[in-house]
Amino acid sequence: MNAIVDPKSLDLAGPTFTPAGTVLGAEVSGVDLRRPLSPETVEALRAGLFRHKVLFFRDQDISHEDHIRFGRYFGELEGHPVTATVPGHPEILHIEAADGLKVTEEILPLARSADKWHTDVTFREKPSFAGVLRARKLPPAGGDTLFADTAALYADLPQDVKDRIAGLEAEHDILQSFGYRVSEEKREQLRRDYPPQVHPVVRVHPATGAKHLFVNRVFTTRILGLPEDEARQLLTYLVDRVKQPEYQVRFRWSENAVVFWDNAATQHYAVLDYWPQERVVERVTVVGTDRPH
Ligand code: SIN
Repeated sequence: MNAIVDPKSLDLAGPTFTPAGTVLGAEVSGVDLRRPLSPETVEALRAGLFRHKVLFFRDQDISHEDHIRFGRYFGELEGHPVTATVPGHPEILHIEAADGLKVTEEILPLARSADKWHTDVTFREKPSFAGVLRARKLPPAGGDTLFADTAALYADLPQDVKDRIAGLEAEHDILQSFGYRVSEEKREQLRRDYPPQVHPVVRVHPATGAKHLFVNRVFTTRILGLPEDEARQLLTYLVDRVKQPEYQVRFRWSENAVVFWDNAATQHYAVLDYWPQERVVERVTVVGTDRPH
């Protein structure tokens, strides 16, 4: 005999999540980002984000307005003090070569060899909650984005390292990343507007309660409270863990793909392997509402 199913209990229209890797990431189907979403769908996506940490949507030919609307389901949007924005849309960042810079032949070797793993805007007192990125112009090949699970990074640390870093704090500074390519005047302004912030080395996720390793190569300048040499060695050891493929998922972009990541749970890295072809992506950034603790 067939079991009786209440049709109201079936979520026929909601999103479906298909894991895109073994550690993190899921491809989402059953959602059209060109249309307003129901509160149920938004909640399902929020839950999916916390579960999978980064969500990949395909074939979403969204307008700038759709992009902004989608981001705003999850909070206010923030601009960026250095990265260019889309004309007429200060809440949408225009990103070339991962960090807002146009790559030229002169800076290519430096830009290509730089370690670009990071969590967005950890120089802020309250780093952003999430990023929503859409491809605007893709190279014929390359330009993938890698994401890493910072809870898995923490979980696999040897116990003696976990004991050593418990309670430690580190400084994060916008000038470490963006300082070298702005004028002296702009550097002074950034220093005034964005003084270095101190965050815990291990962050508790505000929604899931999981522990995450919370230092990154791009913005973390030093671990506090340790002798200088020891602090430097420890920071290098911790920020390098993210490079292991075991903690990553790699996203191959396609036309009209959209990526939505939990910025409190991940780091990401845009692969610069396509120059002199061009790659342009656009991002809205959802503000963070808590100070990492
Ligand atoms: C970003 O860091 O937000 C951009 C990532 C990318 O270009 O893939």
